[in-house]
Amino acid sequence: MATRRWFLGLALIFCVCLIPALSVDKTNFKTCEQSSFCRRQRSLEPGPSQYRALLGSAKLTADKFEIQLINDKTKVPLLLEVFGLHGNMTRIKINELKPLKPRYEVIDVLVGTPASENLQVTGQDDNTLELSLGDGGQKLLVTGSPFRLDVLSDQELVLSVNSRGLLYFEHLRARKDTLSAKVSSAVGNMWHKVKNLFSSDSEKTNTASENDNQSAGEEPETVNEEETKKEEDEAGMWEETFKTHTDSKPSGPSSVGLDFSLPGFEHVYGIPEHADNLRLRTTESTDPYRLYNLDVFQYELYNTMALYGAVPLLLAHNIHRTLGIFWLNAAETWVDISSNTAGKTLFGKMLQYMQGGGETPQTDVRWMSESGIIDFFLLLGPSPTAVFKQYASLTGTQALPPYFSIGYHQCRWNYNDEDDVRNVDASFDEHDIPYDVIWLDIEHADGKRYFTWDPHKFPTPKNMLTGLKEKRRKMVAIVDPHIKIDSAYRIHSEIRSRNYYVKTKDGSDYEGWCWPGSAAYPDFTNPEMRAWWSSMFSYDQYEGSMDNLFVWNDMNEPSVFNGPEVTMHKDAVHWGGWEHRDIHNMYGLYVHQATAEGLIHRSGGKERPFVLTRAFFAGSQRYGAVWTGDNAADWEHLKISIPMCLSLALAGISFCGADVGGFFKNPETELLVRWYQAGAYQPFFRAHAHLDTPRREPWLHGQTNTDIIREAIQQRYALLPFWYTLFYNAHRDAEPVMRPLWVEFPEDMSTFAIDDQYMLGSALLVHPVTEANAREVHIYLPGIGEVWYDVHTYQKYKAPQKLYQPVTSSTIPVYQRGGSIIPRKDRPRRSSDCMQSDPFTLYVALDLQGEAQGQLYLDDGHSFNYQQNEFVYRKFNYSHGQLTSSSLDPQGTFETSEWLERVIIIGSSKPNSITLHQPDGSETQLEFEYNSQTSVLTVRKPGVNIASDFTMSLR
Ligand code: GLC
Repeated sequence: MATRRWFLGLALIFCVCLIPALSVDKTNFKTCEQSSFCRRQRSLEPGPSQYRALLGSAKLTADKFEIQLINDKTKVPLLLEVFGLHGNMTRIKINELKPLKPRYEVIDVLVGTPASENLQVTGQDDNTLELSLGDGGQKLLVTGSPFRLDVLSDQELVLSVNSRGLLYFEHLRARKDTLSAKVSSAVGNMWHKVKNLFSSDSEKTNTASENDNQSAGEEPETVNEEETKKEEDEAGMWEETFKTHTDSKPSGPSSVGLDFSLPGFEHVYGIPEHADNLRLRTTESTDPYRLYNLDVFQYELYNTMALYGAVPLLLAHNIHRTLGIFWLNAAETWVDISSNTAGKTLFGKMLQYMQGGGETPQTDVRWMSESGIIDFFLLLGPSPTAVFKQYASLTGTQALPPYFSIGYHQCRWNYNDEDDVRNVDASFDEHDIPYDVIWLDIEHADGKRYFTWDPHKFPTPKNMLTGLKEKRRKMVAIVDPHIKIDSAYRIHSEIRSRNYYVKTKDGSDYEGWCWPGSAAYPDFTNPEMRAWWSSMFSYDQYEGSMDNLFVWNDMNEPSVFNGPEVTMHKDAVHWGGWEHRDIHNMYGLYVHQATAEGLIHRSGGKERPFVLTRAFFAGSQRYGAVWTGDNAADWEHLKISIPMCLSLALAGISFCGADVGGFFKNPETELLVRWYQAGAYQPFFRAHAHLDTPRREPWLHGQTNTDIIREAIQQRYALLPFWYTLFYNAHRDAEPVMRPLWVEFPEDMSTFAIDDQYMLGSALLVHPVTEANAREVHIYLPGIGEVWYDVHTYQKYKAPQKLYQPVTSSTIPVYQRGGSIIPRKDRPRRSSDCMQSDPFTLYVALDLQGEAQGQLYLDDGHSFNYQQNEFVYRKFNYSHGQLTSSSLDPQGTFETSEWLERVIIIGSSKPNSITLHQPDGSETQLEFEYNSQTSVLTVRKPGVNIASDFTMSLR
């Protein structure tokens, strides 16, 4: 029997991974129609809501407002809670008033309990209550019948909830065939008590009796059994079959859904991960966007299918305001988007407006989740940066990456053995190409038993790691969360004996097929399991590991080759008795968290971790980097890497990249070279390739191409100080590293749908070449009254303008914004670590007023000492012919020997003299050169320490 299963498993692995199919087999994944709750919800059309808010039940306490809702058909009562939060945010929760048993509420995603503001009831009539929402002058109108919510800002309607009547709440009910409602309810209460034994105080869920206390006010009417039964008879409510898999749905139907209307908004973004444009499309004639972490083989582009990760955050933007809706639910979720302007041309819209018939453009968004409760945050901006900060105050900011990890990473499936690693490493030096990290995929482990090494191919991992360390380089090895079932494998037997595996609905360890064959899945939702997993990264546990070994978590959707939709059965059971259904989209986040914490732990809490993950959820930014999974060596895949990472950046995850070169298939040389050029300007920069592809390291494509690739990687390395500063700003202030143009130019509508170019911070505009045989690139340079400079030629361009930029095979179109200052290190070396004490060059690009500003952050690049103020954070300001450097945060105490070797002032006139003034009163005349053709002034050797104050005066 076991042999047969093995064979079947291998066959499956073969099918899933090795046959080069052309595109995804869509039949492996559910459509909305095939996902019964999505089908049920979508069959409810917009119209008057079935819900009424019982105004008499309204109650205001110190931290919240609550009111009961009643479904006029089923008479099942719900409880709505409103929390006014600091910083222009509102949280709204809707749950059953008396659920049969607790419904899952997401824990571990929010960084704390958001601080609430006092709410006040500021008005009331027969059918409406007016609440003031705190600091931003916002009001919430609660309409009783039909129930709806409207958010007003300065008397202007910003957003409405349930205005299309799509509030949908499937109450938990007793299974007709097994338990009577009474027994089942008793079971529910009992379950509650057991569950709370496991929970900390803050996590405790409301029990049915607690809810009783909250139900003061109008008595809910009795549940309408007949209506409920009618609903229940619908297919898919108590059991659902997809292909060969049956979901036993022990709790029956439990889905929730709600609509949001956004008057005045035509552009919405976010809800990664999808292989689609940055601007979300309307889904009236397609499936909704799906959020359900899945291992999708050869994913298709430009559609709404789910991929490896999910962040349920949607942003809306217009020239006046940006806002966000954060739907805190980890179950399978679908998002429908519709708009009253979809399909109308700009001209058509203008004409309609001029003729007076124009309605306000409006986007409607409908969220539908399979289980849990309704729990959402309205992030009311009003600016893009305010929304980023609001979201980060809830879920945290991007972890500050160790410096090496923003360098270049060399990966493939697989580097075969220690010799292979040594040779590849040596070849980088031979070809003078910088790189920081070499990666090992699943074949490095002994029979895909993670935390081990293949004894023949990698017999002396410590020697190998020491060799890399001597070159000041690192290694990343893969550790997947599926564990080979093999009693001789210590990791497996420990997890089994500690009872840490996810369970089937029948209580046995859940088993599925993945890379090692038959595997079990640790229950990462269990904090004890996570702590144990973390401890496995200690040097004495993970044999052969050293401090320059870091980790890659893959297949953590989780991927189960023989499971429904290549993932875990929804009726599998997790810690606390929760179904996999409830927590699915968080599994990968937990794996990532436990691994990152393991790396911190192994260093005694001193060192920053680096962990790459494929699956993610809201909050994953706290644990490391994300990549866009198994793309293909196609031009379209290169193109889509930009909007995919931009969407992630908008949703808080800045450290994003795509496999350079494309994972599947063999890139033609031109594509590979262009991909290096694009990847050099994306936050996570790693080349990767499928097992079956021919070798494609940078030196294998002829001298010219090697030179171009080297040049792209060197450009990356020169800009590392700039990248690191951007990452610090992401970490500190929630500013996305890579950002859509509209974030920087929020009033320029022509930027709103652009996703073939983007900004790095506020200073660089990048438009990578993503077309075959490109001779020119069409670039939009935004900003009324602004100027841009080509970073390679210093050619100046006035903005706004559409630019036709001629390109050669070595061109990477990058423009520095007039008014910015960028720190660089212009001496290329073997790795980022080798550049540690190299001097800086400041690139000062003047705006039309002859001014510019910039920043530089630095620290030791690897430890947490920056949290004890061991950092340097500088501000550079150029105005009226003076460049000054001052501290942006005087608390910084880091001492460095790095110094300033050059200042390049772009767009400058020629001075007569340049004097350096230092705090000790000394004055030094500096040498300079002026190029009158390019208007570039090069100031030689200021020689000051980069952490010190100075002024440089041009006369
Ligand atoms: C998955 C990953 C891919 C990796 C492979 C083998 O397909 O997405 O990057 O190389 O597994 O581990």
